[in-house]
Amino acid sequence: MTPRILVLPGSNRNGSFNAALAAAASLELAGQGADVSRISLADYPLPLVDENLRNETGIPENAVKLGRLIAAHSGVFLCCPEYNSSIPPLLKNMIDWVSLITRDGDRPFKPWQGRYVALGSASNGKLGGIRGLYHVRSVMVNVGTQVISEQCAVSGAADAFEADGRLKDERTNAMLANTCKSLIRHCAMMTAS
Ligand SMILES: Cc1cc2nc3c(=O)[nH]c(=O)nc-3n(C[C@H](O)[C@H](O)[C@H](O)COP(=O)(O)O)c2cc1C
Repeated sequence: MTPRILVLPGSNRNGSFNAALAAAASLELAGQGADVSRISLADYPLPLVDENLRNETGIPENAVKLGRLIAAHSGVFLCCPEYNSSIPPLLKNMIDWVSLITRDGDRPFKPWQGRYVALGSASNGKLGGIRGLYHVRSVMVNVGTQVISEQCAVSGAADAFEADGRLKDERTNAMLANTCKSLIRHCAMMTAS
């Protein structure tokens, strides 16, 4: 069966480099045979995680929608901006809300559980946001996903993308292709089992 992969940039900034990386990853994943959905968190606005809010009004509908979407895919490709060497609040907040989901109606439901996750980052700096991925990896393992070893960091991001959305640099492109290949391979094993 064709693996279904959700591609999700952790930035809503106009002209976001990570949204550009998400577009490049989507092209690569589709080219390698995956069934790809790419979303924007701008379409799923969420309040800051707040346990009082959770206890009073429940998990926000957009978090539930995201949870269902995540669970409908075997893999997730996260494109993560680096903020002060770590995970940006937009992404962490979304991950946290989805991690609080335990039920959908009367059935137990943990959307992150068992998903395969690939990480990418893009920054105009020299390191391409790779330091932040250490933290994202740790968070994603904690919520129950299986994060693959391969990852892709895009440095000099302002000048890294071709007009058609692909990466200009051959080595970075190979890193992205390899990350996508591994994610698809892991997801295919999951789909087959
Ligand atoms: C609060 C804050 C902290 C940042 N810290 C880092 C950093 O540690 N390393 C880095 O490479 N870029 C850092 N940046 C710059 C981001 O990489 C840059 O804003 C990037 O464009 C964000 O990703 P986006 O283009 O997908 O929105 C920081 C930006 C902000 C707003």
